Amino acid sequence: MKAEIPLFQAHRLLAPRPLCLLTVHYKDRDNVMPVAWVAPISLDPPMVLMAIHPSRYSHDMLRRSEACVLNIPGRRLLDQVLGCGSVSGSDVDKFSTYGLEAEPGRRVEAPWLTECLAHLECSVTTMLSPGDHSLFMAQVVGAWAEEDAFAGTWRTDVDEELKPLYHLGGSAFCLMGPMLEQDLPEE
Ligand SMILES: Cc1cc2nc3c(=O)[nH]c(=O)nc-3n(C[C@H](O)[C@H](O)[C@H](O)COP(=O)(O)O)c2cc1C
Repeated sequence: MKAEIPLFQAHRLLAPRPLCLLTVHYKDRDNVMPVAWVAPISLDPPMVLMAIHPSRYSHDMLRRSEACVLNIPGRRLLDQVLGCGSVSGSDVDKFSTYGLEAEPGRRVEAPWLTECLAHLECSVTTMLSPGDHSLFMAQVVGAWAEEDAFAGTWRTDVDEELKPLYHLGGSAFCLMGPMLEQDLPEE
């Protein structure tokens, strides 16, 4: 038997997704916020889509600077993820409050979070407002990952500290289980 899922929870049927810590820089200020609603939308050029609510302090920083870094944390940063998602950068400096180490981005002005497992540097091309979140489409202009954690795909045969955090919804997360690899059927 299948239970009907309330519509406000329907998006959770499309979870989990790797949780990102989005960093932005605008007018001498840096900020960081967790973002779970991120999806790849083009291979050539490589592009991603980020859904960000206009109430977020990061929203206008991203709209104005047109650049960000999607930093992918492991579970060691779970407390910082929840902390950064519960306060606004308009009130606090989340980097010092949560002891997040930052370093300059390579190709964009937004910073890297040093302790994260991977970083995608993004340059915003388009913003749409189809619902209550703004959709930022962005070209990925550079990507870096820990060699022990990523080898063409995220590795599943590694220490749990090297796995990205997957967001199930609310304050629930999971880590990747074993990889299931199967041959494609012949044409
Ligand atoms: C796990 C997690 C995932 C989140 N994902 C999103 C998201 O995809 N889009 C969004 O607008 N807010 C998301 N949020 C909420 C923002 O991160 C939160 O409102 C944050 O405090 C905004 O920070 P800012 O005001 O400094 O930009 C998420 C929060 C958490 C804890």
